Amino acid sequence: MKPVIDILEDKVREAMVAAGGDAGCAAIVKPSADSRFGDYQANGVMGLAKKMKTNPRKLAEEVVGKLDVSDICENVEIAGPGFINFRLKADYLGEMLLEINADEKRLGVDKAEKLKRVVVDFSGPNIAKQMHVGHLRSTIIGDCICRMLDFEGHNVIRQNHIGDWGTQFGMLCALMERRALDAGSKGEMSKVPVNIEDLEAFYKKAKVLFDSDEEFTNRSRVAIAELHSRSNEIWLNRWKKIVDESRNHYQPIYDTLGVNLHKENERGESFYADKLAGVVKDLKDGGFAKESDGAMCVFPDGFTNKEGEPLPFIVQKSDGAFLYATTDLAAMRYRVDELKADEIIYVTDARQKLHFDMMFAVSRMAGWAKDDTELVHVMFGTMMGTDGKPFKTRSGENVKLKELLEEAVERALDVVKTKNPELGDDEKESIAKAVGIGAVKYADFSNNRTTDYMFSFDKMLAMEGNTAPYMQYAYARVKSIKRKADEKGIDYAGELSGIKTVNL
Ligand code: ARG
Repeated sequence: MKPVIDILEDKVREAMVAAGGDAGCAAIVKPSADSRFGDYQANGVMGLAKKMKTNPRKLAEEVVGKLDVSDICENVEIAGPGFINFRLKADYLGEMLLEINADEKRLGVDKAEKLKRVVVDFSGPNIAKQMHVGHLRSTIIGDCICRMLDFEGHNVIRQNHIGDWGTQFGMLCALMERRALDAGSKGEMSKVPVNIEDLEAFYKKAKVLFDSDEEFTNRSRVAIAELHSRSNEIWLNRWKKIVDESRNHYQPIYDTLGVNLHKENERGESFYADKLAGVVKDLKDGGFAKESDGAMCVFPDGFTNKEGEPLPFIVQKSDGAFLYATTDLAAMRYRVDELKADEIIYVTDARQKLHFDMMFAVSRMAGWAKDDTELVHVMFGTMMGTDGKPFKTRSGENVKLKELLEEAVERALDVVKTKNPELGDDEKESIAKAVGIGAVKYADFSNNRTTDYMFSFDKMLAMEGNTAPYMQYAYARVKSIKRKADEKGIDYAGELSGIKTVNL
């Protein structure tokens, strides 16, 4: 079934061409921002008028004169400097809905013509830390993209690029050892209780010791060297334990959010660790990377700093350490060569834009991303508090995702309790979960993705406006109308000859 927006786009473009526009002109049909003016609007005439050096309003009149959408729209109106407003006919909408309703499996959505293998890199929490709200957007937007691609028939490969191999694991493993020794277990891991709530404090404690206790600092250095060379099982086991504990923390969050992400989707930084030296060597051998101030850098074309000097993409620091960037290049090779990706989508916040732009450029230079490999950075804005500042707790810490979701459900439960005190506790709780989690997800999806967005429980849980609770309420209402119509034996799914009004 062809989407209405595409039908309008094609018809308006044809009329624009008939009015003298070039074949490549675009009608730019969008859903109307304000429903008082209609359902859709075409914004393309203004651009065309500029090109044709003619009055946009007059051109719009001409286009409308050559346009016949009478089968699907009410009167077409011109507004402002040359917008064209469309309102769909109720009959047409009714017919469409019946058609969609009859197509239970696909709901009128066609499969894509060209099917691709698409890698979607999303969520990417950092191990040994609580997930915070910044990860929320990547997780739910990424999951949403996967579902849409999947529904269109593409082969979707979900990748969780977890941060599980940084230098911080040296001190974390060293602290684990110290705790075990303190507990009298002579370094035996099993006797040390660790959970992720602890790990947050654990991380801070380790940092303090690392900065103040020389013996501990040395032990951390040994730990990271032996862990990263994978030469000592003990450190590897400790590290694995930390990763597992972290997963015990984030998996329930994915489950609560209804996000389809599991252990088997993980290809974390550790997965690429032994491929990093190869990345740097191949960049050097290929003549793409060169030394600059002791570091190995690639200078992709078109990237300069404020002074106009070429911007380095650093792949190895002067002390020999590899970076986030090196890992992403290794991941690129894996995804193109092993996973056979036609397209790779990265879902992170907008602050990583330059990193991905440069990483894409370097991958193309080196030939690791093929000419026809599509590389997309789907970025999003920062989540702000109602005070307009980045969303933090009162004490200035990152808001923990787990607590945020719990609060959404609690607040929704309060609403259910006042609105429907007669319901049983179980039912109240399951409604609260659907409403609370739905509200958080929908508030994110319904906002402009790339701008910063304000997180407000009050707004997202409101019963009116563009909110999840409102949509859920509308859905429940429609279901109840259907139930009543069924009871009265009204044939609402039959042929529609104009919209009839029935009293239920
Ligand atoms: N761990 C990263 C972060 O928290 C996100 C990883 C995104 N994916 C990637 N391939 N770099 O910012």
